Amino acid sequence: MNIVLIGFRGTGKTTLGKALAEKLNRPFLDTDALICEQTGLSIPNIFSSIGEKGFRNIESEIIQKIQTKEDAIISCGGGAILDPENIKHLKKNGFLVLLTATAETIEQRIRGSLERPSLTEKEPLEEIRHLLEIRNPLYRKVADLVIDTESKTPEELIQQLETL
Ligand code: S3P
Repeated sequence: MNIVLIGFRGTGKTTLGKALAEKLNRPFLDTDALICEQTGLSIPNIFSSIGEKGFRNIESEIIQKIQTKEDAIISCGGGAILDPENIKHLKKNGFLVLLTATAETIEQRIRGSLERPSLTEKEPLEEIRHLLEIRNPLYRKVADLVIDTESKTPEELIQQLETL
């Protein structure tokens, strides 16, 4: 069974996913990294050349490809669960763990990141609040487990994930 980390930007999916994979000696896959590898472009470049819609199409292709994995730790881009087909593929062999944090924490964690193009016309914190409002019901609906990253250290979070 794959462990699939989902959740908004800045909730620690990639950092924790990498560390967990290392600890459990299991392969680590990051959908954003696979998208960049396949296209030879950075995420901001993909957004500026083919737009968010183009990015989502490649994201879905990648998720369809990795559905055959069985024992991997998979970190998904924050918007990966927006497409019901993606959810179907991720759930096929995957246990979905939602990582959460408050909008304020997320804003602090991703402030200054050059890898995260704006998804709306809004100011950063407003964008995060707006998208969390839209996405939170969906994140929670598809998650098999929810882990709040606010009050725990990365080590504690890994310990919790290790027991899955
Ligand atoms: C996105 C999150 C990003 C990346 C892209 C879109 C989103 O991934 O897939 O910029 O829609 O929330 P991370 O959650 O890994 O930052």
